[in-house]
Amino acid sequence: MPLPKAELHLHIEGTLEPELAFALAERNGVTLPYATTEELREAYRFSDLQSFLDLYYALMAVLRTPEDFTALADAYLERAAAQGVRHAEIFFDPQAHTARGVSMGTVVEGLAAALDRAEERYGISTRLIMCFLRDESAASALATLEAAKPYLDRITGVGLDSAEVGHPPAKFREVYEEAARLGLRRVAHAGEEGPAEYVREALDVLGVERIDHGLRCMEDPELVERLARERVPLTLCPLSNVRLRVIDELGRHPLREMLDAGLLVTVNSDDPAYFGGYVGDNYAAVREALSLSQEQVRVLARHSFEAAFLDDDEPRRARYLAEVETYTF
Ligand code: ADE
Ligand code: ZN
Repeated sequence: MPLPKAELHLHIEGTLEPELAFALAERNGVTLPYATTEELREAYRFSDLQSFLDLYYALMAVLRTPEDFTALADAYLERAAAQGVRHAEIFFDPQAHTARGVSMGTVVEGLAAALDRAEERYGISTRLIMCFLRDESAASALATLEAAKPYLDRITGVGLDSAEVGHPPAKFREVYEEAARLGLRRVAHAGEEGPAEYVREALDVLGVERIDHGLRCMEDPELVERLARERVPLTLCPLSNVRLRVIDELGRHPLREMLDAGLLVTVNSDDPAYFGGYVGDNYAAVREALSLSQEQVRVLARHSFEAAFLDDDEPRRARYLAEVETYTF
């Protein structure tokens, strides 16, 4: 049995495996610029975040109907369950769909149909987090939040993703203020390719409760001390960092130093169809590359539930944490 864990940094569009992409392309009459799944996989050689994002957005063309989003989420949940995921907080990128004429309702209702049966089918509790694309305007983010208002009973929080450098968190101050007024939880990608200063800004200007990635905080000892003191969770994605060349190789990932610094780090998969592994694969890879002890791996799983948005269901959090404590490797 795999170690029980929560996954807190997972873009549902990043779980689109080549086989499903081709099946949906056929069903929807969409032509992909690749002849075979092998040819498509060949394109998964990225030089940085932008080179990945170009392919990630292009492939979304196959997602058109609510059933497509349901199939996408079902496929993820099944794989996640097999790797010990007991709770998943799932990002989606509404602007990448509404810009192509696919409505907010199609996306949210399609995903929700899979999430509604996730507990029964896969033993996974779920939350949905809607992300704003930071390389789009603040006005577009505000319009997106407005479009989401009929679906807020399904949406736990907001996040910020896409091309980071040149798009500082402060650009989205207003939309995060509105999200807070609506009672939404707030997270943001920061310090992946962007500087440590973006991590500080996400905390101070956007009021986020968790930082997605946050790796580059390690360049700023004062910030590290603050993140540790305030117990701010960081959702690390080690295999993603290697594939997007944020780090040279997994053996040089700072995760161990981050644990030693008392940071509340978690391990996640980001876009597993593109980066060579789901969340259990990320755990196994860092354990091996960084020679982590069983107890350190247990700490990572404990952190994942501590950092989860389960405040409305503390008995569930306690159950999950008890599973982690009694797990035998
Ligand atoms: N969108 C999907 N994956 C992402 C990542 N790793 N960073 C920023 N935006 C993303
Ligand atoms: Zn991400």
